[in-house]
Amino acid sequence: MTKKQEESNADNKMWVEKYRPNLLSDLIAHEQIIGTINKLVDANRLPHLLLYGPPGTGKTSTILAVARKMYGKNLASYVLELNASDERGIDVVRDQIKDFASTQKIFSTGFKLIILDEADHMTKDAQAALRRVMEQYTRNTRFCLICNYVNKIIPAVQSRCTRFRFAPLTKQQAISRISDIAQKENVECDAQGLEAIFRLSGGDMRKCLNILQSTTMSFGKVTEDNVHLTTGHPLRKESQLIVNWLFNLGFEEAFNNVLEMKNNKGLALVDIIHDLHSYILRMAINEKIQMFLMEKISDIEYALSFGTNEKLQLSALIGAFQIAKETHANKLDDVEKYMSVANYEV
Ligand SMILES: Nc1ncnc2c1ncn2[C@@H]1O[C@H](COP(=O)(O)OP(=O)(O)O)[C@@H](O)[C@H]1O
Ligand SMILES: [Mg+2]
Repeated sequence: MTKKQEESNADNKMWVEKYRPNLLSDLIAHEQIIGTINKLVDANRLPHLLLYGPPGTGKTSTILAVARKMYGKNLASYVLELNASDERGIDVVRDQIKDFASTQKIFSTGFKLIILDEADHMTKDAQAALRRVMEQYTRNTRFCLICNYVNKIIPAVQSRCTRFRFAPLTKQQAISRISDIAQKENVECDAQGLEAIFRLSGGDMRKCLNILQSTTMSFGKVTEDNVHLTTGHPLRKESQLIVNWLFNLGFEEAFNNVLEMKNNKGLALVDIIHDLHSYILRMAINEKIQMFLMEKISDIEYALSFGTNEKLQLSALIGAFQIAKETHANKLDDVEKYMSVANYEV
């Protein structure tokens, strides 16, 4: 780390919090949603809200910015934020929310806001209880439910809210935000490094900022290799080697080589599979074989998510490539052409 970076790290803040957008205008993407909510707030006609979508897309930031806009300094006395995924039994809804919702400020005419973050973790019973509470206090309270999976919210509650879906940020949006923040923190980044951060985050801005910060802490400079090393993801040259082994070696040798690399570099099979996916997509082979490999690697990924044995899954992976290889070789006389596929760039 450079001296400047050290100084700016001295405050020891997570960048996710340090760069949380405070104003609605600070948020990138979701122009339409923000425009609509803005209009509703200005007209003093905010309905109950249900914000849903994948993590790190700005749901919590949006509602906090709305609250700040509506209440300014008085935020604390007008907003109840229930955050933890626990403490969501039926009693909390009944007591805590009722207490807050039923007290009215003397002299004030506006409504209060109750934010239920991670509402999809509430029990069905608690959601059912919420339905009544929402109706009872509509006169002076608005609810904002936030969740990742909208289908985990009971229909009766859904129908009482105006729903907004937060889509993942696009590559351009995410990358321009990350490079802005990198500039403010005096971090040197190259284009491949920024791309790698986006690729590994899957459109989750929280992940993007965390990877950016941890890469800076470990290496001071953001390059593709540094990002991969920080996150334990295979380096590009390692992925290329693995692809080469899978295509060109027999079962036993390929298995031993991959296993050795996996152990030496501490790689997770699931990360290797994610890289393979982009190789398979680019392969110039029979579509059926391509589909076969896709299906196999998705099965393996699924199995790995349940904590199954990595060695066993690795042998399934190698086996799938052996079958693909043989099928292909039997149909084509020009085997060499097929083998050269393995040298494709990601
Ligand atoms: N649309 C966005 N514009 C700018 N920053 C964002 C956006 N979405 C997420 N972020 C960044 O990611 C972090 C997490 O956002 P958050 O609102 O908590 O996401 P969510 O509640 O959807 O999981 C924020 O601190 C912010 O830095
Ligand atoms: Mg959130």
